[in-house]
Amino acid sequence: MMRQRFMFERALCAVLWVAACSQGAGDGKPGDIPYERLSDYGFFVGDLRDLEPAAGVVPYRVVSPLWADHAGKARFVVLPEGEKATFDPGETWSFPPGTIVIKNFFFDLDRRDPGGEARIVETRLLVRDETEGWVPYTYIWAEDESDAYFHAAGDRIEVHFVDENGAEAEQEYIVPNTDECDSCHARDDETHLLGLVTPQVNFEGELGDGTVGNQLERLADAGIFDGPIPATDTLPRFVDPFGTAPLTDRVRSYLHANCSHCHRPGGDAAQAGLDFTAFDPDPLPAKLGVCKEPVAAGPGTGGREYDVVPGLPDESILVYRMESTDPETRMPELPIRIPHADGIALVREWITSMEPVGCGTP
Ligand code: HEC
Ligand code: HEC
Repeated sequence: MMRQRFMFERALCAVLWVAACSQGAGDGKPGDIPYERLSDYGFFVGDLRDLEPAAGVVPYRVVSPLWADHAGKARFVVLPEGEKATFDPGETWSFPPGTIVIKNFFFDLDRRDPGGEARIVETRLLVRDETEGWVPYTYIWAEDESDAYFHAAGDRIEVHFVDENGAEAEQEYIVPNTDECDSCHARDDETHLLGLVTPQVNFEGELGDGTVGNQLERLADAGIFDGPIPATDTLPRFVDPFGTAPLTDRVRSYLHANCSHCHRPGGDAAQAGLDFTAFDPDPLPAKLGVCKEPVAAGPGTGGREYDVVPGLPDESILVYRMESTDPETRMPELPIRIPHADGIALVREWITSMEPVGCGTP
């Protein structure tokens, strides 16, 4: 325990350039990041694979997660000791240099028992640097799950599990190259946080430790902000895509989390003219693809004419591309490869619920 704590402080010194830390002699150089091993940061106490957070390491969930080929995620944020973030009702909380956001990826060993025994495969970090902004790093876990090792070049991991029918199965999981992080995390050439934003964390529910409450309030109570935040019921919030909210809100939340990092102004797919962010409660229908012709024809359309044809999911390019397993066609793009059955069903339900207006008919 002592040692963990020591290493944790050392890590924060390393990212902080703090003079007061320099008596660590050599250990405290900022150049130390990225450390070779995940355990070097001291984020977790006890068995590393249990992800039991050390003091100051704050867990959080997002209400609408990114589908990642059946992977489960465990997320944490840690600020340098004594430092605070400045709250923003939208997407731009500003974090002090040295802040680290941690996202761990794991796979259930038995898909009939979600949340049971799992194998942890990858840990991603975004580290706030004074001049570079958010810098991505990836750690790949050893097979015995004793530790994870820094790895910038990406990888493919064979994951073995028992499937929904009780049969032995395996899948190949793609760990992206560190250069690929920005295909989703960058907008206007700057790396951004995507999930640690007000509408994604402002929800009421089970908070992981068995208690129920509002998660944003919980983050504020954990002392991460430099002042009080507005009442959470006055702040933007997304809904659980598979919860009980109205269909349109659920589909907007889903498309935001899974598509909007590319499909929005400034994003990687801005040229396509779609905007899947869920901020505007009443967007122009074409922003969501309704009766919108695609910018590029060809195989990505499967011969269909519009992104979304009201009432007709099978005529809609959006559904076609979500269902495709062809890397040239499928949405979202790599590294995600397995179509998300629940997400597709949700989008189909939404399109089916629209009044069939007949795109293109005057
Ligand atoms: C396919 C798009 C995509 C790629 C590629 C991607 N991310 Fe993310 N990432 C997301 C989304 C969306 C979220 C927020 C939702 C969530 O946490 O499930 C996120 C969340 C995170 C978080 C938690 C902080 C935050 O932004 O909310 C970290 C850390 C992170 N990603 C690191 C990385 C690193 C490092 C890489 C490259 C190795 C990477 N990501 C590649 C889409 C992506
Ligand atoms: C990693 C970035 C990325 C993500 C994530 C992504 N897309 Fe795309 N998408 C693109 C790019 C780039 C294009 C333009 C080139 C093309 O058509 O292949 C595109 C094109 C499209 C088109 C054709 C749009 C037009 O009008 O020209 C549709 C429809 C689409 N995407 C739907 C989706 C949906 C639905 C999701 C989420 C489930 C999604 N995309 C997630 C990058 C992305």
